[in-house]
Amino acid sequence: MDKIVISGGKKLNGEVEISGSKNAILPLMAASLLASGDFTINGVPQLRDLKTMANMLRIIGAEVVVENEKMKINTKNCNCFKAPYELVKTMRASIYVLGPLVARFGEAEVSLPGGCAWGPRPVDFHIQGIKKLGAEVELENGYIIAKAKKLIGTRINFDIPSVGATCNLLMAATLAKGTTVIENAAMEPDVTALVEFLLKMGAKIDGIGTTKLEIEGVDELKPTEVNAIPDRIEAGTFLVAGAITGGKITLKNCEISHIEAIIEKLKEVGCEFTFGKNEVTLIAPEKIRAVDVKTTVFPGFPTDMQAQWIALMSVANGTSSITDTIYKDRFTHVPELCRLGAEIKLNDNTAIVHGVQKLKGASVMSTDLRASASLILAGLVAEGRTDVLRVYHIDRGYEKIEKKFEKLGASIWREEGGL
Ligand code: EPU
Repeated sequence: MDKIVISGGKKLNGEVEISGSKNAILPLMAASLLASGDFTINGVPQLRDLKTMANMLRIIGAEVVVENEKMKINTKNCNCFKAPYELVKTMRASIYVLGPLVARFGEAEVSLPGGCAWGPRPVDFHIQGIKKLGAEVELENGYIIAKAKKLIGTRINFDIPSVGATCNLLMAATLAKGTTVIENAAMEPDVTALVEFLLKMGAKIDGIGTTKLEIEGVDELKPTEVNAIPDRIEAGTFLVAGAITGGKITLKNCEISHIEAIIEKLKEVGCEFTFGKNEVTLIAPEKIRAVDVKTTVFPGFPTDMQAQWIALMSVANGTSSITDTIYKDRFTHVPELCRLGAEIKLNDNTAIVHGVQKLKGASVMSTDLRASASLILAGLVAEGRTDVLRVYHIDRGYEKIEKKFEKLGASIWREEGGL
């Protein structure tokens, strides 16, 4: 298994190009199942999760080819409506095929994802929603088996906004008979990007970018071409890298309106910013101020930046508290950061971080995607050598992260071997 090795202490300086957003591309790929023909998604990075979704579409019968960041999907010959456990267990977002398959083909058999490294991540909203749209659903041998001759428009009101369930049911509703209203819908940019894609396919949707989406079902959708939106979490991760190393970093190809909450918090920390068209430059202060964070739904501070923020606060001047209100058990990076010398106490879903003068390199274990990013950030500033093991997690969502950091002046490389 590969590991990433960092010799910490270098200030990062320079420009970095932000890649297309994994979490936005995944639902677009699933949405291609809603129509027959040739789709193109531009700006697709090489990520393990996107390869997993491509394999999922291939099992269903689609052709998927990626060349020079251009993903071509042909959905003419889809004839297998099953998402097998072997794939779903490696990527929960596989459940995105449920809505489109039932909507277009009247049937789907999708494995339940099972557990997650950081606590329960239920899919009950997806199941209840597809039932409300008129599908008959049974749970058998670990699979969701859903059938519907034709989905029927309905009213769905989420207890809490869910990105995944909003996307899944939105896709399903585009081909349903009549009107569907989704209330308390997620407003994350990934959802908005999906709405835009579906509109291009000929769907009828009102309320884009709001918590109430109204979808009038149509008989048929058509294939289309789209550019992926930039990855706001990759952007946030590189901004934190600039801040934690005391550097100056310019992000190219980023959408400022998607990362405002992160920028505001970094300003409180002491960072200065200048803005250009689709780019932003961060200038780090001499010393990081401790700043509290509470994760919330968009446009609030994202849960996917919680781990990286804890890494930053580990070397801040003072004590901060970081609360995750979205995923209350998402703290597997905390004991690993403590191995690097961080002083962090966990109190339910709040981490209390006492900033220390310095971190010291050690071997640490990645446990999930954002935890890995947090450990790399800490390694960039830790004294000596840090080995981040099980780095396959990082390859799920960050394209060639070590190459991008190296270009910014970090001493970082990938090695084979390790646990
Ligand atoms: N929830 C339920 N029932 C459901 C679905 C969600 O109770 O059926 C709860 C969750 O337990 C959570 C909250 O609703 O407390 C929000 O979860 P959401 O459904 O929005 O999460 P998701 O769609 O499964 C996506 C991203 C995650 C990101 C979350 C929150 C993708 C593929 N994943 O997950 O990204 O953390 O939204 O923004 O888009 C990551 O990239 O590292 C990652 C985990």
